[in-house]
Amino acid sequence: MSLPKQVKIVEVGPRDGLQNEKESVPAEVKIELVDRLTSAGFANIEAASFVSPKWVPQMATSKEVMAAIARKPGVIYSALTPNMQGFEAALAARADEVVIFGSASEAFSQRNINCSIAESIARFVDVAKAAKDNGLRLRGSISCSFGCPYQGEVPLDAVADVVGRMRDLGCDEIDIADTIGVSTPRKTQAVMAAAAREFRIEGLSGHFHDTYGQALANIYASMEAGIAIFHSSVSGLGGCPYAKGATGNVATEDVLYMMQGLGIETGVDLDIVVDAGQFISQFLGRKGASRAGNAIAAKRAG
Ligand code: HMG
Ligand code: MG
Repeated sequence: MSLPKQVKIVEVGPRDGLQNEKESVPAEVKIELVDRLTSAGFANIEAASFVSPKWVPQMATSKEVMAAIARKPGVIYSALTPNMQGFEAALAARADEVVIFGSASEAFSQRNINCSIAESIARFVDVAKAAKDNGLRLRGSISCSFGCPYQGEVPLDAVADVVGRMRDLGCDEIDIADTIGVSTPRKTQAVMAAAAREFRIEGLSGHFHDTYGQALANIYASMEAGIAIFHSSVSGLGGCPYAKGATGNVATEDVLYMMQGLGIETGVDLDIVVDAGQFISQFLGRKGASRAGNAIAAKRAG
């Protein structure tokens, strides 16, 4: 299949990126990060997560962040909502899209959201209905679609099954997530094909962590399979506190650099993302994980 002419990049750095940081990042820094990403031109930014602060303390400032970001009309600001408590908070915070997040692996579901896959889907019914009743977009995210840190292999049918359940809940978009970054291109195409049996391919997205350095190859393979929505994180920040050994999402700068080279439109300004990456890396006191971001910054410095 030929590659798409344009792709949507969902910037998940402010959520997936920062949630894994041990030291608390002040709300002002998160707000400036989101504002910089907004000015870079993303159509969708995952800005918040209304989960239990006991489980993920870093996300406890989500309300303040959502209240103070400079919203650009038309941009979708998303928030994670594991249950109705999270949904009510996201609604009050004026999220444009809520994300219900499940797993294709039973073991990970228990570790991450403290319930079985079936229990999680039952819990999402009310969230999905409330999202629709309030006119919010609904996205479903499926962790461990390519492998699980606790159970290892995850059958294709298990992924397809959860995609079908998320579809039946009314999801507008469904993320096929490689939580621990273990997939390789052919495997990626097989998983995407299994997901596409259950949901329209234009609504599927690839969420690749880059733990084994395979994320760009997996994105390319996904595009060959017809996927045109990808998640990435500025400066390659990220990881899930409940996925042992998982590192950050694929770096946004690297994805944008590849898309530019392929002549694929993203609507995002790479230079502004590089600046945003430098900003957050300086705050965190370490070099960013984006190869393209670091190369562009070094070239600028002469
Ligand atoms: P639980 O302990 O089973 O929930 O946790 P509970 O209903 O028994 O509530 C326990 C306490 O949490 C209560 O407080 C609730 O009020 C509170 P207490 O009475 O003890 O003081 N609580 C909440 N507080 C704020 N907001 C809420 C909320 N819900 C309950 N929404 C629960 C179940 C789902 C809440 C918990 O397991 C949790 O918060 N898990 C979140 C884990 C998480 O955020 N993981 C990272 C995000 S997912 C991810 O990164 C993967 C992704 O990137 C894709 C990929 O890469 O795979 C999306
Ligand atoms: Mg993730």
